[in-house]
Amino acid sequence: MRVLFAQCLLITLVVAGLHPITSGRKTPLSRKVIPSTVFTGNVVANTISTDSNLDGPQLSAVNSSSYEWWYFDVVSQDLKSEITIVFYTALASGFGLLPPSADVTIVGIDFLFPNGSTSSVELTATEAVITTVGQGSSGIYKDTGAQWQGASDLSSYIVSINSPRTGVVGTLKLKSVAPAHYGCGKAVAGQPMMVAPNIGWSNAIPDAVGDVEFQVNGEKLCFQGVGYHDHNWGSQPFQNNLVIEHWGHGRLGEYSIVWSNVIAPDGTDHRTVYVAAKNEIIFASCAPGSFDIQPTYTGGTATTGTQSGFALQVYLGEGKVLSLQATIAAVVSNAAPVYMRWTGSLVGHFTGGEVIHGGVSTFEQFNLTA
Ligand SMILES: *[C@@H]1O[C@H](CO)[C@@H](O)[C@H](O)[C@H]1NC(C)=O
Ligand SMILES: *[C@@H]1O[C@H](CO)[C@@H](O)[C@H](O)[C@H]1NC(C)=O
Repeated sequence: MRVLFAQCLLITLVVAGLHPITSGRKTPLSRKVIPSTVFTGNVVANTISTDSNLDGPQLSAVNSSSYEWWYFDVVSQDLKSEITIVFYTALASGFGLLPPSADVTIVGIDFLFPNGSTSSVELTATEAVITTVGQGSSGIYKDTGAQWQGASDLSSYIVSINSPRTGVVGTLKLKSVAPAHYGCGKAVAGQPMMVAPNIGWSNAIPDAVGDVEFQVNGEKLCFQGVGYHDHNWGSQPFQNNLVIEHWGHGRLGEYSIVWSNVIAPDGTDHRTVYVAAKNEIIFASCAPGSFDIQPTYTGGTATTGTQSGFALQVYLGEGKVLSLQATIAAVVSNAAPVYMRWTGSLVGHFTGGEVIHGGVSTFEQFNLTA
């Protein structure tokens, strides 16, 4: 308890001590100012990777049908605490879960507290300034106190929020333990960046040691756990391009795991799965047969029971399968029936191997069929 308290006291110092993002050793390769007002006209969304800019802006501008966001989370080892911070450039017409607003530069923060309660805060910026160096990016959301700073090699990120007005002050730090990737493989030039039609994705930090020190309305939320950072974009409304989506990430023993499955309105099924260990990619694939995922239920079926989590089978090749059960521990975000995000435990085994317990994960579900 004493240690926890001492860590939380550091908050003000950490925030006050942040350097401006331009103070790094390397010269910024690009700096983009995104106004809060929406662009009228056609925008271009990048679809093929280069050898840099993995986490930089991928839209030429933000119009009312496009969306882009930078997503960060950390889930605690005991699955009872989580923080999610998302920096958006989008209107609700581009990403339907956003609140109605005329401003595209929005920061959304979701908290899960150890007693199971949740809270959310939205901050509106007057503009966003995003700087890209190497593969990494940094962003300042003006007049919100919210910013992120990324290392050019994606080895570490820090998100800081200094918003006394909304009662939210703190930092989220990530130290990567797994290599970045795109939907079909390594973070190299020439990779397809769309994980489904009109849904772009890059995963700068598939798994990280996460360190969270926040104060929320005078309450402390401090914990270490499993962290993650990715980035999505598209030039057509997100909600028009999927019917069902399952995504999640976790750590089980020495393994870092990320999955995504999108069922598009035309019925096509798009899959992406990633397994790494000891900071090396073991498997990263967007092949249709790369993995399967099924919701699991307790007390009955899909219609009579309660959703308990997901079962996954990752087909690693040569008959080797990684079987996983992700079991819901707590609700982090509830916009049922359209959207849910949870923390959950992870248990699994490789074909013929011993069962590994004690995994930590967070996962979500979009269901636009209702
Ligand atoms: C935004 O840009 C996309 C891609 O060019 C285009 O299809 C769409 O119609 C544009 N939206 C608006 C509202 O102009
Ligand atoms: C749960 O914890 C939060 C954060 O500490 C607190 O604000 C809230 O009042 C608590 N809720 C209950 C029901 O104890």
